[in-house]
Amino acid sequence: MNQLNVPASIEAWISGKSYEVDGMGMSGNQVLIFEDMVLKIETNSEGAEKQIKIMQWLQDRVSVPKILAHEVENNKSYLLMSKMVGKMSCDIDYLEQPNILLEALAEGLKSLWEVDIIGCPCMRDLDTILSEARKRVEQELVDIEDAEPTTFGENGFNNPEELLEWLENNRPEFEPVLSHGDYCLPNIFLEDGHIKGYIDLGKTGIGDKWNDIALCYRSLKHNFDGTYGGKVYAKFNPDMLFEKLAIKPNWEKINYYLLLDELF
Ligand SMILES: Nc1ncnc2c1ncn2[C@@H]1O[C@H](COP(=O)(O)OP(=O)(O)O)[C@@H](O)[C@H]1O
Ligand SMILES: [Mg+2]
Repeated sequence: MNQLNVPASIEAWISGKSYEVDGMGMSGNQVLIFEDMVLKIETNSEGAEKQIKIMQWLQDRVSVPKILAHEVENNKSYLLMSKMVGKMSCDIDYLEQPNILLEALAEGLKSLWEVDIIGCPCMRDLDTILSEARKRVEQELVDIEDAEPTTFGENGFNNPEELLEWLENNRPEFEPVLSHGDYCLPNIFLEDGHIKGYIDLGKTGIGDKWNDIALCYRSLKHNFDGTYGGKVYAKFNPDMLFEKLAIKPNWEKINYYLLLDELF
């Protein structure tokens, strides 16, 4: 019996193999972890197609999972890929060694910025992201409960529409690089204190440098302050990221990209 109800071409790979269901992702996708493979099932098959394209382009440029099989059936995308070795950068071992963690995350960002973006098949500039955001706002898909406490309400925006309008009218200058698009700790794998690879590439493409810095900064902050239920590291200062990157924080852009992410 086909318990998982996956397309036959995928079933041929996974038949009889045991797996664990991942509880880490926030996107509502299904992720099944096998011994040496991962199956990601997504309902947004259009987004998944883009992910395949960029993963193929990235194969010999940076370390990403290898695509083993891909199928779309009933508007669902089934992506079977190799399992990344190493540990997620939010692993307790790395949270306990923030200096090594920050060094590695900065190394990961710099490696992306070194990639030549000519010919990159995915564009993640503000026109692209804001038009996706507009669709989400119009379809009332934005969950304001998920937002940072200051984004909406008394001293913030009244609603997602108002935030979107502000974002459309206050676009910062574009600094294009190869951007991961969701550079948060669970999407970055490390081994022996160095970057092993990047996963979750649905928003990867030619994007702004500060988008990744902003999301990395916020992810660091929340992984250390107990937001996800882990140990609270009161002394941790996420500003150390800028020292490791050897750049001055551009708070205007960091705040812009954090606000933009509230619509997703
Ligand atoms: N190729 C992979 N190798 C190892 N672990 C993976 C892989 N793909 C996904 N995972 C695990 O599943 C989690 C969720 O997958 P991800 O692609 O990030 O989905 P989401 O969009 O839900 O964040 C990851 O944080 C990671 O722990
Ligand atoms: Mg993820």
